[in-house]
Amino acid sequence: SSNGENEPKDEIQGLVANFPSEKNWDGTPLYFYKGVWYPVFGIRGALSFQQHFIARDTDIILASMPKSGTTWLKALTFSVVNRHIYSPKDSPLLTTPPHELVRFFEMDLYSKSQLPDLEHLPAPRIFSSHIHYETLPQSIRGSGCKIVYICRNPLDQLVSGFHFARKFKRENVNPLSSIDESFDNVCLGIRSFGPFWDSVLGYWKASLERPDKVLFLKYEDLKEDITSNLKKLAEFLGLPFSEKEEKEGVIEEISELCSFDNLKDLEVNKTGFFKSAGAPNSTYFRKAKVGDWCNDLSPFMAERFLKIVEEKLAGSGLSF
Ligand code: A3P
Repeated sequence: SSNGENEPKDEIQGLVANFPSEKNWDGTPLYFYKGVWYPVFGIRGALSFQQHFIARDTDIILASMPKSGTTWLKALTFSVVNRHIYSPKDSPLLTTPPHELVRFFEMDLYSKSQLPDLEHLPAPRIFSSHIHYETLPQSIRGSGCKIVYICRNPLDQLVSGFHFARKFKRENVNPLSSIDESFDNVCLGIRSFGPFWDSVLGYWKASLERPDKVLFLKYEDLKEDITSNLKKLAEFLGLPFSEKEEKEGVIEEISELCSFDNLKDLEVNKTGFFKSAGAPNSTYFRKAKVGDWCNDLSPFMAERFLKIVEEKLAGSGLSF
């Protein structure tokens, strides 16, 4: 297993044993370290990544809270960056899940005791992380690399996370059966890679301070207008679409290729298994609806949670 359980006891495990801990929705522990709640399968990798990763100026880092459109952003960015190598008809996305084309630092690359060899990867390297901006290795924040953050309406993100967690049958633990059961913790921000407000605020402020290095996107904006957001993404990455490409419909081709309906129905995403996260690829594709929270949260819960989010974001210029 890659969640650290079968790894030999070492320094990191010794450290983690002393972190404050709460129960995650899938029944596994969440650990609190330097302001962030880490899932059990992300804590080892997070610490190792923070300690060892060396960024290059050409790196592209995709950041998010889980369940905010990470899979989508991976597919889009991979396609934009590699559009001169692969046409949409022979894109690796057709046979490889987005999470294997753009790998997570903490839940994949750095989750084993052996460090990954990332030196030989050609530029631009594209990676992803759920870690908060403040806790990214100094090497990333201090380098020229580009960071793209995607966030989502906090209620939809919450509900998406709940359904995701419930799909797992972890050994020796039982997933929670309702959001109500843990709602007090939810309101304290005790969620995988939470608190939500600290994650979004860190990247939001960074995007205001360093707009050439940090791009802040919203899931709902991409849903509403994928074309202008793809253009924005390509420009930010220094790879703007040419007039010729626009005329030829390259933007439409990429948005079509990466669309929920297309990716969800690919054989690889229907039947494959994402080993690093211990999850079938299909768990990353559910409904992709804006406003789906209303099927799982009462108006009272929604109001209570949104009020907290609003208070935390007050004065930042960011709202949901
Ligand atoms: P729902 O659970 O609301 O359906 P992440 O990729 O960060 O884990 O987020 C998963 C959420 O994004 C899920 O939301 C999933 O259905 C949705 N999603 C996955 N692929 C998508 C795509 N290509 N376009 C839009 N939404 C997508």
